[in-house]
Amino acid sequence: MHMHRAEKIWMTAGIAMLVVFLATLTTAAIVDGFVPPSHVQSIDPTKVSQTAPFDHPGLHKLADGSYEAYYVAHIFSFDPQHLVIPLGAHVTFYVTSPDVEHGFSIPLTGVNTMVTPGWVSTVSHTFKAPGKFLLVCNEYCGAGHQMMAGDVEVK
Ligand code: CUA
Repeated sequence: MHMHRAEKIWMTAGIAMLVVFLATLTTAAIVDGFVPPSHVQSIDPTKVSQTAPFDHPGLHKLADGSYEAYYVAHIFSFDPQHLVIPLGAHVTFYVTSPDVEHGFSIPLTGVNTMVTPGWVSTVSHTFKAPGKFLLVCNEYCGAGHQMMAGDVEVK
């Protein structure tokens, strides 16, 4: 079968691009640990305010010295709105929504997950730098989406 030279060049470029993309994804997943957030825990979205520990959102210290932070993301704010985290703390965030799809992002930290009603999103981070970090909803969730923000203070 005869193949035109230009066709060969484009086919090679296409395959090379696929190989590069696949290598990038594999490297990010294995070396950098970039994996999709786990959605293993479910919750009744109509009963979030009555379901422990989401009935008392906030930071909880564990016996091993690490922390758990429970968050409720709802239209159009986060509960808690403000959180103080001790410097150097390893925090696992558990976030859920009683209403619509939200985002949970703390820029400059790598904390970034979608928040889906009925599910508990989990993401961990060790806060090694002091400062006040913005917490934002980065999924369009309605008319007040742009006001949906809070902060995390590391000190
Ligand atoms: Cu919540 Cu956008």
